[in-house]
Amino acid sequence: MGPADLEDIIGSLQSCEDPAGGGGSAPVVIIGPGDDAGVTLIGDTAVVETVDVITPVVNDPFTFGAVSANNSISDVYAMGGRPLTALAIAGFSSCDYDSSVLKEILRGAVHTLCRAGAKLIGGHSFNDAELKFGLSVMGTVDRNRILRVSGASEGDVVILTKPLGVGILATALKGGKLSEEEMRPAIEWMLTLNDRASLAASRAGASACTDVTGFGLLGHAYNMARDAAVDFIIESARVPVLGNVFEMIERGMIPEGAYRNLQFNESRVSFSPGVGEDRKLMLSDPQTSGGLLITMGNEQIKAFEDSSIFYEVIGRVEKGSGNITVK
Ligand code: CO
Ligand code: CO
Repeated sequence: MGPADLEDIIGSLQSCEDPAGGGGSAPVVIIGPGDDAGVTLIGDTAVVETVDVITPVVNDPFTFGAVSANNSISDVYAMGGRPLTALAIAGFSSCDYDSSVLKEILRGAVHTLCRAGAKLIGGHSFNDAELKFGLSVMGTVDRNRILRVSGASEGDVVILTKPLGVGILATALKGGKLSEEEMRPAIEWMLTLNDRASLAASRAGASACTDVTGFGLLGHAYNMARDAAVDFIIESARVPVLGNVFEMIERGMIPEGAYRNLQFNESRVSFSPGVGEDRKLMLSDPQTSGGLLITMGNEQIKAFEDSSIFYEVIGRVEKGSGNITVK
């Protein structure tokens, strides 16, 4: 979902009474604004809904569509659900792009949805000076195994399932400091589904889960710690990072969002003196289609150890009041 302020406004709006004649069929909201996706109970089915739209992070339209679709369905996985259907949303300028570009973007999105076992069933486009693409996604989740952003508890470990740095590398690609070839590993990660990590977390009974996107690792970790009123201790040296990221930081290839995130983080994260500016920026880098950030009991990591899913234990949860310490 989008920025917290929009979610806050939605959360503050009074919802209407059950429509007259609704009988028992009115949906029951299980999770409202503030989590990765909303969940409602319709009959016996827990339905997950989310929407996300992004601007291009790569040059190739097919790849952009595939990455954007993966970014959108990721919020369903972050709830422990599986995506079923999607609607496309495209901001498109017919003066700047031929309709074949839109077709390629949609082909890419369908490719990702097929891999996830989901179907594109419609969409809407509008005129926009800047190209934008994303999906509104519907899925289902086992109502007893919903992975919320809150729920982390003292003694848990914190794990991350994709390396960081795609925002910095995408900026370097746009800035001509990185070749398409050097960008490839980042693209592969952005195309990697969070399906298996989500299933493993769900089966293991993880205490909390979210996906790392626009607020960067520390922003999303902060939301998890705050919502559960616990402290997170992050070992920055254990955080997985893509190749070339530190070199690109050194060359000034830093997205505006990373600076903005870091500005927030400086006021609410305690950084140990040994954590340099480059590491702070890496931990604040906005991710597209990032990995899952999961908290779980130490013994539950076995679900990941016994699998081929990429993951790294990056920290632990301590008793506290919503603070993050980075060592
Ligand atoms: Co989102
Ligand atoms: Co999310």
